[in-house]
Amino acid sequence: MKLIIDDANIEKIKQLYETFPVDGVTTNPSILARAGGDPHRVLRGLRDFLGSEGELHVQVLSTDAEGMVAEAGRIRAELGENTYVKVPVTREGLKAIRLLAASDCRVTATAVYTQMQAFLAAKAGAVYAAPYVNRIDNLGGDGVAVARDIHELFQKNGLKTQVLAASFKNCRQVLELVRCGVGAATVSPEVLEAFLKLDAVDAAVERFRLDFEGLCGAQATL
Ligand code: G3P
Repeated sequence: MKLIIDDANIEKIKQLYETFPVDGVTTNPSILARAGGDPHRVLRGLRDFLGSEGELHVQVLSTDAEGMVAEAGRIRAELGENTYVKVPVTREGLKAIRLLAASDCRVTATAVYTQMQAFLAAKAGAVYAAPYVNRIDNLGGDGVAVARDIHELFQKNGLKTQVLAASFKNCRQVLELVRCGVGAATVSPEVLEAFLKLDAVDAAVERFRLDFEGLCGAQATL
């Protein structure tokens, strides 16, 4: 499973890349708003950092298919042909996904709350479909189950589209999907950091250090 960072703060992303084995960056308009500044400059900075082959996902704002396709063209012209264009799976979005996929644009179908949205987006040619795990949970549903179902229905129907699960609020939601081997999960820096916030591990490492210092003196290493 690919592990992607759902954020646009370049400094935070650079820092996370130093530690975590991550595979790219996803953004959306709200994430860009949180990052602040000129979104074109922020996205250009992300592309420069990730390199031309790095996985970068950028969402369209238009609500009509024609506008979405035009926007996808501008996104790819500015950030590279291999940039994944995120398109919400609305009626117009589905139309745009078909048009974009037909012109070899890599599409991430987003705002996926149901299995059928994902199925339709996959048939239309999306590379990824992004179910919003925690937002589904907040509607009283089971976000992990929806993402798992989508993964299975892609496999059973011979669809090449991968699940890119999104909207996580805790590590358990992510772990459940690692267990299923879905294609990718995009997580906030907070959730990513939480994977390694383990007091017991820190305590064990401190004990090792103190025991060795008892043997060889302060600050001793091998
Ligand atoms: O990009 C979509 C998804 O990541 C939204 O996450 O945390 O705003 O529900 P969240």
